[in-house]
Amino acid sequence: MRILGIETSCDETAAAILDADTQTQKIIIRSNVLSTSLNLHAKTGGIIPEEAAREQIKCILPVIEKALQDAGLSSNNPAIDAIAVTYGPGLIGSLLVGVETAKTLSYVWQKPVIPVNHLLGHIYANWITESTDTSKNILFPALALIISGGHTDLVVMHDHGKLEWIGGTRDDAAGEAFDKIGRMLHFPYPAGPTIEQYAKQGNPKAFSFPRPMVGSPDFDFSFSGLKTAVFRQISLLQTLDKQTVADICASVQQAIIAVIVKKTIRALQTYNAQALILSGGVAANQPLSEQLTHALTRHALSVKLFAPNKSLCTDNAAMIAAAAFYQQTPVAWQKLQANPELYFD
Ligand code: KG4
Ligand code: ZN
Repeated sequence: MRILGIETSCDETAAAILDADTQTQKIIIRSNVLSTSLNLHAKTGGIIPEEAAREQIKCILPVIEKALQDAGLSSNNPAIDAIAVTYGPGLIGSLLVGVETAKTLSYVWQKPVIPVNHLLGHIYANWITESTDTSKNILFPALALIISGGHTDLVVMHDHGKLEWIGGTRDDAAGEAFDKIGRMLHFPYPAGPTIEQYAKQGNPKAFSFPRPMVGSPDFDFSFSGLKTAVFRQISLLQTLDKQTVADICASVQQAIIAVIVKKTIRALQTYNAQALILSGGVAANQPLSEQLTHALTRHALSVKLFAPNKSLCTDNAAMIAAAAFYQQTPVAWQKLQANPELYFD
């Protein structure tokens, strides 16, 4: 099955062609094109939704054309079986660009269109594999940890199509905390990777920032208090020399990781999960996956840890096409609507 994936939920405009083998479940990326408006947002320190959508309107067709070209397909009714598109959650203006383009192409090319939940897309980045080695299969129940700029969610996957959301952030997402704290330190947006770099030279115990909700009996998170604590600490400091910045970064990163690790381990134990699936931009953070791995050993959990390649952790269209392969529920293009508030059922 050959699928064109389209992703425009936030600041990226992406298109990809996937070949998925229905027998072996092997998924090969034929092309994966991404145009980012990050430079635009780096200047403002965050995303301005209208500007993001304007940029996406400009690049959506060239990006799709390039994805088809890279896969050796014609842009005049290409040989694909379906079009997969993110229909939520996300910024409404941005989502509309992808959704309306997918609807038009579905009508013109007479191809089915499969709406995909962006969060499910992040999870399915873990199923993009050319390997047919069944020992590497993700066993159910699996626990998915989605940690991105917009989300921090724990979802139990009992099977494909059988998902149970068990908890998430009550305010800022983990990535949002990295980005907002990075802004206080005058880092460019998105700040997660810069904080990770600075943290390497810093002492994670230099500042004792709060670990919000670490002991609460639920699977929820809260990161806005941490942001306020960092802001207070920065305003108390006379100067912000390089070492202090590194110490703040290391301490902030450790506070975020500590909460995520604690809650994730408890969820794995509670649901007897066989696999832990990381996804979303923050999953690219190396100390996080290292500490999760150590915690699995410490708690004697025989849980396999999966994380996509770095380039598939952040927003991309290959993951949207992969999710569509496992959830083949096409809709009539007339019925497809963007839903910025979309969550798990
Ligand atoms: O999944 P993603 O590309 O977009 C959303 O759907 O939000 O995630 C972007 C987020 C940003 O907040 C960024 O700061 C964070 O992922 N991020 C990281 C790292 N790389 C990206 N956070 C911590 N460490 C990283 N290495
Ligand atoms: Zn995302």
